[in-house]
Amino acid sequence: MIVLGIETSCDETAAAVVGPQGPLADIVWSQDVHALYGGVVPELAARAHAEKVGVAAAAALAEAGIDRPDAVVATAGPGLIGAVLVGLAWAKAAAFGWGVPFLGVNHLEGHLLSATIQAGGPSFPFLALVVSGGHTTLYRADDVGTYAVLAETRDDAAGEAYDKVARMMGLGYPGGPVIDRLAAEGNPEAVAFPRPLEGSLDVSFAGLKTAVRAHLMSEARAADADVAASFQAAVIDVLRSRVERVARETGIPRVAIGGGVAANRGLRDALRATGLEVHIPPMGHCTDNAVMIAHAGRQRLLRGEHDGLDAGARARWAVA
Ligand code: KG4
Ligand code: ZN
Repeated sequence: MIVLGIETSCDETAAAVVGPQGPLADIVWSQDVHALYGGVVPELAARAHAEKVGVAAAAALAEAGIDRPDAVVATAGPGLIGAVLVGLAWAKAAAFGWGVPFLGVNHLEGHLLSATIQAGGPSFPFLALVVSGGHTTLYRADDVGTYAVLAETRDDAAGEAYDKVARMMGLGYPGGPVIDRLAAEGNPEAVAFPRPLEGSLDVSFAGLKTAVRAHLMSEARAADADVAASFQAAVIDVLRSRVERVARETGIPRVAIGGGVAANRGLRDALRATGLEVHIPPMGHCTDNAVMIAHAGRQRLLRGEHDGLDAGARARWAVA
């Protein structure tokens, strides 16, 4: 079964084709317009998706060398509702026009399963750490569609913390990649930032963010690279300690990561060093993309699921 997947939940217009052997096309067009505003402007995102989603889908089909897929799937949430609606409506119309099945995919399930796109991915059950701009959750995945939340953030998502800290430092948006690059040149022990909620499975990044703000306003302000490295070291410590503890407590030694923050080089290295069986998708499958949506949708279609053309978009939608 060859599936066309569409992703428009935030500021990436993405289309991909996935077949039995894996990805056949992977188109991701990032919207530049938001950089001016220091964050994603929902209405501008929706308009840009409306202009480009059809072209992105056509480009994906051309790259895959097919005229028509066997099914069309699209992110149905969670995300910016106007942005989600654009891709979802396009996908439903295309499925109707081609006379093929349609399915709405949960964006988080896309991230959760992204380590299973490539051959050699984790077998069930595995632990999945989804760390993105809107979510920081550690799941137990027992099967496609059978997930349980084991730990999550009580306030900010990890990516949100990166973006806010970058903004405080005047580094622009999105902050993750910039801080990641800067951190590589700094000393992670320069500033002793807190590791909040030590001893708990849940995590919190609001206190860390406040500590960074206080440090930036202090007289003892360290060099930017040192602040970035120290902040990143705290985030990684917090995430790594939860993964290690949950692996120990569940007896499941297989861990997959997904979401934009899973592209972080420091986090990838720290998890690889744990000795657990860690499955790390390529960078392009961590940040928002349509391959993960086509893949997750395809897994569900193969189980006989599909949605009606009345399926709605959801701004909030828990996967477990
Ligand atoms: O998964 P994603 O592309 O979109 C959402 O579903 O939210 O994640 C975006 C988030 C942003 O907060 C961005 O700053 C962060 O992922 N991010 C990173 C890196 N690349 C992207 N954070 C840390 N290090 C990176 N290399
Ligand atoms: Zn995402």
